[in-house]
Amino acid sequence: MCGIVGYVGNRPAARILVDGLARLEYRGYDSAGIAVVHRKALRTTKAVGRVDDLRTKVGNDPSSGRTGIAHTRWATHGEPSERNAHPHTDAAGRIAVVHNGIVENAEELRAKLIADGVTLASDTDTEVLPHLIAQAVEQQDTLEAAVREALRTVEGTYGLVVLDARRPDELVVARNGSPIVLGLGDGEMFVASDVAALVRHTRQVVFLADGEIATITATGYEGSRLGPPTTVEVGDDDYDLDGHPDFLSKEIHEQPAALRRVLAGRLDTRFATSRLDGLRLDPRELRGIRRVTFLGCGSAHYAGQMGAALVEELARVPADAEQASEFRYRNPLVDPDTLYVAVSQSGETIDTLAAVEELQRKGGRVVGCVNVIGSAIARQCGAGMFIHAGPEVSVASTKAFSSMTTSFALLALLLGRVRDLSAAHGTRLVEGLRRLPDAVAEALTVEDEIAAVARRYADARSMFFLGRVRGSAVAREGAQKLKEISYVHAEAYAASELKHGPLALVDATMPCVIVVPDDELVSKNISTIEQVKARGGPVIAVTNADLPEGLADAVIRVPSVEPELDPILLGVPLQLFAYHCAAVLGRDIDKPRNLAKSVTVE
Ligand code: F6R
Repeated sequence: MCGIVGYVGNRPAARILVDGLARLEYRGYDSAGIAVVHRKALRTTKAVGRVDDLRTKVGNDPSSGRTGIAHTRWATHGEPSERNAHPHTDAAGRIAVVHNGIVENAEELRAKLIADGVTLASDTDTEVLPHLIAQAVEQQDTLEAAVREALRTVEGTYGLVVLDARRPDELVVARNGSPIVLGLGDGEMFVASDVAALVRHTRQVVFLADGEIATITATGYEGSRLGPPTTVEVGDDDYDLDGHPDFLSKEIHEQPAALRRVLAGRLDTRFATSRLDGLRLDPRELRGIRRVTFLGCGSAHYAGQMGAALVEELARVPADAEQASEFRYRNPLVDPDTLYVAVSQSGETIDTLAAVEELQRKGGRVVGCVNVIGSAIARQCGAGMFIHAGPEVSVASTKAFSSMTTSFALLALLLGRVRDLSAAHGTRLVEGLRRLPDAVAEALTVEDEIAAVARRYADARSMFFLGRVRGSAVAREGAQKLKEISYVHAEAYAASELKHGPLALVDATMPCVIVVPDDELVSKNISTIEQVKARGGPVIAVTNADLPEGLADAVIRVPSVEPELDPILLGVPLQLFAYHCAAVLGRDIDKPRNLAKSVTVE
């Protein structure tokens, strides 16, 4: 959500910190700030708005400090303002803290600090941390011991970095529910909440586990339970725009390559099945699974709905998808014969992580479908399938979504082939999956036509997205994309439900995007289109079927691979449609208002 960067080494810290923040801006972006130690005093600079605003301010006030911390914020407690921006400091200006997460007992701690005579300078939950650490630091021998002491009274989640002006050669980091990763340089050390800020400097990283506290200096790190360094697979180039106007465009167009990666080494032509060794399930265990439940939030939930449809269709195993955010709170019945799949691009979404923990506490078997290696959900699950989509920077999920759904097709194939799916059927699907990346590339070639359709309809106040059975989750994700990046209201309905209520809203001002897969339900979808037309509603058909000429006002053609896999393809033009609606409306495509990538707070 928010982004954290820290540096300790021999180079001036400010520039490194601000550059690191720029890489993390997608995680939260209403204010930013840095603190460096300069001649044993803290120098703090903050700005409301984007990291570039901070860069301008820091540029006017260069400091030679070689140790520092920085933060880009997405407000949870307190409005976006300089006084609420991180780093927060104690009253004496000795201790500075950057923090991701939420201090849940902040009110109680604030009251206690006020009773102790402390004057609080912000409305944030975070500010209690530097004051508590400042109180503890006098009694403790080390900064780490003071942080440990202060955190004893703190309830909630945190990933934090602490700087003490009197100890300019070290930083203390702590993690409980919000990611912190150390980057190992040569005579310098980096800290961040996301490897994106580190890969410019190093690919050698150490992920902190929950509950860990560590001290880092220019030459090393010390913590009680830190694991060995790992090498991250992404590089700095992965965070470049590569000639695209924004990351969303780049990521939409990266989908053929992303799908090649998710399929690589996982198609088994000989046995007409897939290989998902990371699940760590042998054929007997696969056969023993009586239900599959996908858990995720937002687009990851819609991907899960597509996964459930694929599992039911190909494996004939009952399957469903539930919002992880609901699941964790509703005291779910956990069935030992169900395979739970935690779906998350970032691997850090707090609701999904909490659902995994709840499941594990109740003896449930849960595997991950995650993009970010080393992330909390991946580590908590311990088994699963990485989607290898590469870094997804734009807030709206695109390539991760289609990689997730492709991995679910692999899972459905695997479960099907240990049951009643024939070898011939398996071979057809293996071949279909092999053709899928090229078909996605072909779907992207009609971008100009989709942009023209978007120009015609982007000024609508509201749109319906309709689909039935195979098209149903595609429509939901299409509506989600439009809402989040263009701010045009969109609602998804099962096409079959239209006449049970929402048809009352259809008139000439309500464009209806209808997903029409080329399957046995085409005639039903044609009826839906006719019902909309009869009420004067404009129809945009997204289809790989041959629809009667002139039936829809706009037709977006999509290639086919195999009917069961075609929903993955049908989703691609809806991403482009949302993208071009947002572009026509002049939206900030990569950073939609009020949203942040990776929701690590409730
Ligand atoms: C939508 C979007 C969000 C995420 C959701 C889950 O485009 O990006 O709805 O899908 O916040 O995030 P992850 O997959 O990181 O758990």
